[in-house]
Amino acid sequence: MEKQRLLECTDLHTSFFMEGNREVKAVNGVSYYVDKGEVVAVVGESGCGKSVTQMSVMQLIKSPGKVLSGDVVFDGIQLLKDGKPAADMNKIRGNQIAMIFQEPMTSLNPVFTVGEQIVDIIRQHKKLGRRDAWKLGEESLAAVGIPDAAARMKNYPFEMSGGMRQRVLIAFAVALESELIIADEPTTALDVTVQAQVMELLMDIKKRNNSSIIVVTHNLGLVSRYADRIYVMYAGRIIESGTTEEILTNPKHPYTKGLLAAVPKLENKKRENLVPIDGAPPSLVGLPDRCAFYPRCAYATRECEQKAYPCLRLVEKADHYAACHLADEEE
Ligand SMILES: Nc1ncnc2c1ncn2[C@@H]1O[C@H](COP(=O)(O)OP(=O)(O)OP(=O)(O)O)[C@@H](O)[C@H]1O
Ligand SMILES: [Mg+2]
Repeated sequence: MEKQRLLECTDLHTSFFMEGNREVKAVNGVSYYVDKGEVVAVVGESGCGKSVTQMSVMQLIKSPGKVLSGDVVFDGIQLLKDGKPAADMNKIRGNQIAMIFQEPMTSLNPVFTVGEQIVDIIRQHKKLGRRDAWKLGEESLAAVGIPDAAARMKNYPFEMSGGMRQRVLIAFAVALESELIIADEPTTALDVTVQAQVMELLMDIKKRNNSSIIVVTHNLGLVSRYADRIYVMYAGRIIESGTTEEILTNPKHPYTKGLLAAVPKLENKKRENLVPIDGAPPSLVGLPDRCAFYPRCAYATRECEQKAYPCLRLVEKADHYAACHLADEEE
């Protein structure tokens, strides 16, 4: 099957302007794409800009944050042109593009029942009467594995568990047949079995509707089982990207290697070989123009200290890119 581009984001820059003239460069020239039916993972340590990237694409950045530049095209529609909104996002957000946030409670309204909310969102985007919308809502809850969906429609969000609420958000995407589901850390608040269930469920939906999925997470171990491609972010930039197999078996950036060394392996129950990466990510204010990982990098040379920021460069195989001076030299 020929690949079709669904989302393409080019050279996105988003900053937060804080007191004392401090500019936090949260997203610093990020480009990525997602094909139709593809599962893409965005991984990296806390604070590296994963969420701000997705929020920028969805035009959800609020002051003191600002999207400074970048282009976003979704399904042939220009959403963002040179950092400026170019389409009516209210029609697209929550409809063609569904977002599942870290804490599902923030996306659900506590004072309305789940049924009322799903009917509301369906009717905002589909020409359906109340009764048909209710029926579709109920079917969608059943489709995401919520038992006794008819009764659950009458529940308030607080009457459900965290895992159940996350399923409700996925049910929204099912009801609207969203082409893209962005699941931002869909799993951290939940225990491991529920995490895996939510991922399996997203895979079912993907198969059913040929939707595409972006999974944003710290958990490289979890996504390696599900993602087709992986983007690794560090300090507001993508520092490596490639197919999941390439990233797992042939990582080029020392940061990616570090992340992989910190992933628990199934056969290693005692976790004794886990090696966390030393040090902490840099401040995103006034980053010098050189590799941002340099101060933590075990392989760094003088050159890494002196040279300008290493651009993403193609490594050996098609579609595998890394931003590291040392990866360049291996060629
Ligand atoms: N509302 C805000 N005001 C100021 N700075 C912000 C704001 N939101 C995010 N940032 C900054 O932008 C950077 C990127 O944040 P982001 O939320 O994208 O990180 P993340 O990779 O999603 O982390 P996590 O894995 O913890 O969710 C952070 O370093 C943070 O300091
Ligand atoms: Mg985040």
